Amino acid sequence: MSVGRRQVVRHVLRVVELAALPVPPESGTLFAGRRFIVVDDGCGIALELAAMLERQGAEVRTPRDVDGPCDGLIHLGALRPAATSVLPEAYEGVRRALSGGLRWLVVASGAGGRFGQPFEGGIGDPRPGAGLRGLARTVAQEYPEVLVRALDVDTKDTPRAIASRMMAELLDPAAPVVVGHEGGLRRGLSLVPAELGGDPVVPLETDAVVLLTGGARGITARVALELARTSKCHIEVMGRTPEPVGEPAYPDIPDEAGLRRALVAAGRTQEIEATIRRTLVDREIRRNLESLREHAASVRYHSGDVRDAQTIRDVLSDVHRRHGRLDGIVHGAGLVENRLIQDKTPVSFERVYRTKVDGACALAQAAKPNLGFFAVLGGLAGVHGVRGESDHAAASDACAALAHMWRTRLRGRVLVADWARWGTGGEAGPIEPGAGAAALLWEIAHGDETQVVFTGAVT
Ligand SMILES: NC(=O)c1ccc[n+]([C@@H]2O[C@H](COP(=O)([O-])OP(=O)(O)OC[C@H]3O[C@@H](n4cnc5c(N)ncnc54)[C@H](OP(=O)(O)O)[C@@H]3O)[C@@H](O)[C@H]2O)c1
Repeated sequence: MSVGRRQVVRHVLRVVELAALPVPPESGTLFAGRRFIVVDDGCGIALELAAMLERQGAEVRTPRDVDGPCDGLIHLGALRPAATSVLPEAYEGVRRALSGGLRWLVVASGAGGRFGQPFEGGIGDPRPGAGLRGLARTVAQEYPEVLVRALDVDTKDTPRAIASRMMAELLDPAAPVVVGHEGGLRRGLSLVPAELGGDPVVPLETDAVVLLTGGARGITARVALELARTSKCHIEVMGRTPEPVGEPAYPDIPDEAGLRRALVAAGRTQEIEATIRRTLVDREIRRNLESLREHAASVRYHSGDVRDAQTIRDVLSDVHRRHGRLDGIVHGAGLVENRLIQDKTPVSFERVYRTKVDGACALAQAAKPNLGFFAVLGGLAGVHGVRGESDHAAASDACAALAHMWRTRLRGRVLVADWARWGTGGEAGPIEPGAGAAALLWEIAHGDETQVVFTGAVT
C-alpha cells in the first residue's frame, strides 16, 4: 500500500540468502606490504585473521584501538565478551584511519549473523555493534574507493571459521556492504516495498496521552499536530529550549533578513545571529503549541535534554502524576549537523548520535511495560547511508538494532520509522509532512514490523 493516500511508500527490511564465497587461498601475496590493524576481540578471531593476513604478505597489528596509520582496518571491538556499545567512541578511530588513505574497512557485530533478529537475551546481543551498519553504509558512499563491510557474525562459530569468512569478504569487491554469517549461511538485507492494509483508524482513545520528544518543532511537531487533529488526545512535548513566555520579540518583523536589519539599526554588535536564531525558534515553538492547543485535549511543554536519563524519568513521572497514564511515546528529538566524515568531528558525531540513541534508550527504560507504542523517528541514511549523514545513519541504524531489545521489555508496539528527508527530492521523491505523519499513525495502528522505511512515491 502507498500509505498517506498514495503519497508515502512503505518499505520493510527482509533478510535474504547470499551466495557463499570461495574459501580464501591459504597463502600468497594478495596483501603484500599492506599494513592492517585488527582491533582485538580478545577471543581469538583477531589472532586467526592476523595470521591469515600475514600469510598473504600483510603486516598486522592487533591493538585494542586504532593506534596509527594503516591500509586496512578490521574493527572487532564489538565482539569482545561483555563489550558495551563501540559507538560513538569507535567513530574517531575509523575517521582517523580513513583520513590516512584506508583501502579496506571491516566493522564487525556479533548479533548472530541474522542482524539481531529475533533477540531474547544472551548470545547475539545487538548492543555492542549497534549503529556500525549505518556508519559503514555512509563510509561506502563517501569513500567509494574503499572496500567497506559491516559483518554480523555468530560468535558461537569458531574463531577460525569467522576469520576465514572475513578474509573471503575482504577478497570480494562486489559484495554488499552489510553481510551476515551464521554457520555456513551467508545473508544480506534487502529493502522491499510492502503495503499495509487495514482501515484508517487512529490508534488512540480521546483521553489518551502521548509524549513527543522534539515535538515543538520540525517534523515531530507535524506528527504531534496530526495526532492532535485526528485523535484529540492529550499532547506532551519536550525540547531543550525553555518554554517561550511573555510577549514575542519583534512581532512585526517576519523574516530573518528583517530581524538582522532591525538588530543592526538598534546598534547591536554582538550575538546578532544567536538572537535571530533564538527569536525564530521561539516563534516556531509558540506557533506549534498554539496549533496543537486548537486540537488537543491539553498541551504541556517540558524543557529538558533527552540525553539525560534522570530528566526523562522526571518527565514521565510528571505525566503519570497528572494524567494517570501514558499511551505512547514518539522520540523525534534530533540534531542535524550534516558534514562529510572528513569534516565531521567526533564531538559532533557523538552529539547527534547520543541525542537519538541515548534519548531512545532512556525513554525505553523509563516507560512502563504497558506503554501502547514507542516510535523512534530515524532517517533514510540508516538503511542506505547518505553522504554527510554518518551520525544520523549510525544513530538510526543503532535504534533499529536496539528496538529488538526494547521489544523484550515493552509489550506494546515498538517501531523505528526511517523517513526520507522531505524537501530534498531524491530518486524516491520527498514526503509531504502531513502524509508522513499519517503514515506513521497508520503504521502504529496496523503494522507489526520493528523497522519501516517511508519514502515519497515516484511521480
Ligand atoms: N527533517 C527531516 O526531513 C527529517 C527526515 C528524516 C528524519 N529526520 C529526523 O528527525 C529528527 C528531527 O529533525 P527535524 O528536521 O525535525 O529537526 P529540527 O527542526 O531541528 O527539530 C529537532 C527537535 O528536536 C529537539 N531536540 C534536539 N536535541 C534535543 C535534546 N537533546 N533534548 C530534547 N530535545 C531535543 C529540538 O528542540 P530544542 O532545539 O528545543 O532542543 C527540536 O524540537 C532528526 O533527528 C532526524 O534524524 C528528519
